[in-house]
Amino acid sequence: AKGQNGSGNPRDFIAKMKEGKKRLVIFYGSQTGTAEEYAIRLAKEAKSKFGLASLVCDPEEYDFENLDELPEDCAAFFVMATYGEGEPTDNAVQLMQNLQDESFEFSGGERKLEGLKYVVFGLGNKTYEHYNSIGRAVDAELTKLGAIRIGERGEGDDDKSMEEDYLEWKDGMWDAFAAAMNVEEGQGGDSADFAVSELDIHPPEKVYLGELSARALTKTKGIHDAKNPYPAPISHSRELFEPTADRNCAHIELDTEGSGITYQHGDHVGVWPSNPDVEVDRLLCALNLYDKKDTVINIESLDPALAKVPFPVPTTYATVLRHYIDISAVAGRQILGTLSKFAPTPEAEAFLKNMNTNKEEYHKVIAEGCLRLGEVLQLAAGDDLNIYPTKENTTGWPIPFDIIVSSIPRLQPRYYSISSSPKIHPNSIHVTVVVLKYQNIPNHHVDAKWVYGVGSNFLLNLKYAVNNETPPLIASEGSSDPSHVSVPTYQIEGPRGAYKQDTVYKSPIHVRRSTFRLPTNPKSPVIMIGPGTGVAPFRGFVQERVALARRSIEKNGPDALADWGRISLFYGCRKSTEDFLYKEEWPQYVEELRGKFVMHVAFSRENYKPDGSKIYVQDLIWEDREHIADAILNGKGYVYICGEAKNMSKQVEDVLARILGEAKGGSAAVEGAAELKLLKERSRLMLDVWS
Ligand code: 2AM
Repeated sequence: AKGQNGSGNPRDFIAKMKEGKKRLVIFYGSQTGTAEEYAIRLAKEAKSKFGLASLVCDPEEYDFENLDELPEDCAAFFVMATYGEGEPTDNAVQLMQNLQDESFEFSGGERKLEGLKYVVFGLGNKTYEHYNSIGRAVDAELTKLGAIRIGERGEGDDDKSMEEDYLEWKDGMWDAFAAAMNVEEGQGGDSADFAVSELDIHPPEKVYLGELSARALTKTKGIHDAKNPYPAPISHSRELFEPTADRNCAHIELDTEGSGITYQHGDHVGVWPSNPDVEVDRLLCALNLYDKKDTVINIESLDPALAKVPFPVPTTYATVLRHYIDISAVAGRQILGTLSKFAPTPEAEAFLKNMNTNKEEYHKVIAEGCLRLGEVLQLAAGDDLNIYPTKENTTGWPIPFDIIVSSIPRLQPRYYSISSSPKIHPNSIHVTVVVLKYQNIPNHHVDAKWVYGVGSNFLLNLKYAVNNETPPLIASEGSSDPSHVSVPTYQIEGPRGAYKQDTVYKSPIHVRRSTFRLPTNPKSPVIMIGPGTGVAPFRGFVQERVALARRSIEKNGPDALADWGRISLFYGCRKSTEDFLYKEEWPQYVEELRGKFVMHVAFSRENYKPDGSKIYVQDLIWEDREHIADAILNGKGYVYICGEAKNMSKQVEDVLARILGEAKGGSAAVEGAAELKLLKERSRLMLDVWS
């Protein structure tokens, strides 16, 4: 039966394409929104280059039976992220099953996609083993089914060069596309995605001032997830490093009581930061909007199928920059070309055009110099980057706001491994956050400066506020300004003061499930490796076991843990007196677990090897090799690695391969590697790592 609008089955993408006269369908497999952004960008380019309209599809919302009925003058795009250990993103699970399942048939009654024209761009991360495996699998399956790829398969590396990889790939792809589709460039034209209008009168209670869900003002209740984060009160927070450390690590407890939020040990919590004051002010000034920052604006999509307004409206200019879009990221190369048209001077225009087209210069000045968009605009116009931006010292650019909205991605949550167990802390989620602060690489245009991570400094500011502390002044090392600068400040009261009540501050959060879990049977030995903040989930793991031990001992007496497997934690930090996380807690866990919990700690800047080199967790693992090999090979033990991916996690896997290879009478490369592979397949070696 046809629906009221004549579109029939809402899961039929071909019907939708026909209805909207669209010749491209673009599916995206996206977990955090990056693949979706690239899908939208491809759709926009198809329109501006060739005048072709696209249907951008979340594959979860459509069926694929009729993929074989895609008309000949159409093409299908697949923009697919690879997630975790080579898995599809949640929204692409069904799509992948349909493509890979031998028994799945298309509507023609066969497993054939003869002549279907397709494009693939995969998103992955080279620090993980299964780099881009989903993009590659889609490509392989489609080819197997008789479909024909247009151009090369694109692959982007999220570790380093996603944007560059995309830019490098897309032009060749579009050339091949023009030939395959028999279309010519120049038939489109730049058309706006959004219309922004300023509203003179508007009831203030209907203006979104940073609320993350449209539900917030319509007052509809709903479960708390990524689409509807929960403002969690911070019930406790403290500094974990000693004052002698020149870094910060914040322990923060988020109160979830009454929210309906539950979690498991090993889950992640997404924290929704806002942008720091300095970047908001900088861009307001550079966009000539400082005086109008609180003007209420409405934003409408001119093609809702292509580009949804990415945040709730009506809102204000300042709110968009502070809460909704990612203005703190390093400016992308492509947007600089777009914005060069609005330069206030010929010199500024030339500067942006050069940065847009000259890859090496872009990399050196902007990527290594760590310049955000506001800073690039200031630099291009000859403004002084070493003073706080104001209307007076910042050149205004006549950039239409709709271009800002369509070219800067939405501000995303930052994910942290939860460092508590719900069995000990049922109503609070703990996070352990090392505060990100590093130096840029100065160049002929840009002075040395500190770069502050958005999420961790947002949380650090919350910690200062909760404890009524004054943020310290820190020397701006290497800067041309030898005086002191303070850490960036944030407006942490939230929209309408929603995140501050008396002395209680809140942060918007949601929980993301993970598979990083202890075995259910406590008899299995467990080996946990987590130097630095990689220890976070393992504090949760140990607490989980402590809770179980308390219950077992209560029920079965003091010998209840006799047949439990050993839990080993390999932890590393610089010095016992500086950055030893949760130093005062571990002895109690050891006691409560009656010797079943053993901790090995590597102090990398305290004791050294005879040859003067550092001692790391992998060295302690090697020392303990006999026990480790026995636990894994004979005890069916479980291994967990958490922390930095590129060096630490790789080197730990190497030493494990060596231990297992030798124990099996073979080598690391053959027997050891095979054993690790097997462990991974059986989920007995699990990783929670980041780059
Ligand atoms: P370092 O900073 O002295 O080099 C937490 O960051 C701990 O992990 C620190 O002691 C740090 O030592 C150590 N670390 C750095 N690189 C590592 C690696 N590749 N493998 C294991 N530990 C490492």
